[in-house]
Amino acid sequence: MAKLYKINTYGCQMNVHESEKVAGILEALGYTQAGEEDKADIIVFNTCCIRDTAERRALGNIGVVKAQKKENPDLIIAVIGCMTQQEGVADTIKNRYPYVDIVLGTRNIAMLKTEIEKVIKSREEKKKKSDKKYRCFDRSLPADYLDIDEKTPQTRTSFPNAWVNIIYGCNNFCTYCIVPYVRDRELSRDMSSVLDEVKKCVADGYKEVTLLGQNVNSYGNDIADENVNFANLLREVDKIDGDFRVRFMTSHPKDLSDDVIAVMANSRHICHNLHLPIQAGSNKVLKDMNRRYTREHYLELIAKLRSAMPDIGITTDIMVGFPTETEEDFEETMSLVREVRYSNAFTFIYSPRKGTPAAKMEQIPYAVKQARIERLIELQNSITKEISTDYIGGVYRVLCEDKAGKHKGMVCGRTESGRLVTFPGSADDIGKFFDIKITEAKSASLFGEKQV
Ligand code: SAH
Ligand code: SF4
Ligand code: F3S
Repeated sequence: MAKLYKINTYGCQMNVHESEKVAGILEALGYTQAGEEDKADIIVFNTCCIRDTAERRALGNIGVVKAQKKENPDLIIAVIGCMTQQEGVADTIKNRYPYVDIVLGTRNIAMLKTEIEKVIKSREEKKKKSDKKYRCFDRSLPADYLDIDEKTPQTRTSFPNAWVNIIYGCNNFCTYCIVPYVRDRELSRDMSSVLDEVKKCVADGYKEVTLLGQNVNSYGNDIADENVNFANLLREVDKIDGDFRVRFMTSHPKDLSDDVIAVMANSRHICHNLHLPIQAGSNKVLKDMNRRYTREHYLELIAKLRSAMPDIGITTDIMVGFPTETEEDFEETMSLVREVRYSNAFTFIYSPRKGTPAAKMEQIPYAVKQARIERLIELQNSITKEISTDYIGGVYRVLCEDKAGKHKGMVCGRTESGRLVTFPGSADDIGKFFDIKITEAKSASLFGEKQV
């Protein structure tokens, strides 16, 4: 019987994509994906530590598999991803969850294959001899890293969208953020490797390619050739023939250049859709966060984007309750949200991360943060609803991405601007473009019908 695998993924799209590489490695070793009800032979936890909640969720679930391991001692358990790169976490896992067999960091998932083979071999030897302990891998930065993309097999899981990494790590050290500590410094992939991967995705029938990086706008900064930059990468991707769309995330406002805006506006494939995290509306808080842009600069970018692409859909990330955020500062976030009118915003309560500068500052009571986020969500919901209503009656090109979970006989997909639309259809429609007339809007969701 085939050996089965399960991968539990937490965190951002980068982790989602890295889980596709984990799936590729496991399938090359002869494993197949376990169904919901199946008992797996290997379980991989691809963890996140951006906020306390993400970390606790992963640790809780690692705790839960103890019972399965008791039932099936041959089960292999691996913990990878950002959480394992934090100071001392690999040791905590070893001590608190001794049944975990493999711990790998963010830059050495390519080593998963050899680590699994070692575990299997040591277990066979254990059967023969006796007292060998399970092997837990010591965290090692940044081993075998360059192999990750160019040689690691991958099993894509999100047809018709394909994720393509262009840059790893982050150099920015925003004072609240753990990412630079767990993902190391920026490292760009070769432009030719990225272009080859995009071409292959298009040739394989993918209809949307999303270029990934913590700060895609820094792409190429670590490569001597000055022609290797994000605007030029977009230009080259746009030259690829075929009916496909391109999106990218995440953009840092301090690095979003006029050149990138011009390429987006004049392109064939690049969606008029941008995720541009603001984090906070007050210049004082932005400074304390080390974001290195001002409210005024950000608003200027929004004006440039809208003048170059009047149909652009702009989304953002906003954090409330940063240690130095006063009521007046928070009001500045609210006023910025009113001014920009995002089509959607991801809102977060600031969560202190050990080892970051902001975690050492005096903190705001949780109840205050909670009250602020509720006000912010209410405001954004009302804006999203208003923007949704503007779509009614219009016809938009939508890429059908999936069946619409809750609604039988319905499918869903996105407009170029990034809005989710649900419409009647079947699984055969997935991966095809349709002109959809919007007939109804319910806050963030749009409903429509195919135009013939
Ligand atoms: N590289 C991206 C963000 C990656 S993390 C950027 O610079 O915009 C995704 C989002 O998580 C961030 O935009 C931020 O809003 C949020 N975030 C990061 N650290 C956080 C923390 N300590 N507490 C709460 N939210 C956080
Ligand atoms: Fe974190 Fe800032 Fe880097 Fe984004 S740019 S990953 S928020 S340090
Ligand atoms: Fe989480 Fe790591 Fe992404 S901390 S948000 S999985 S980069």
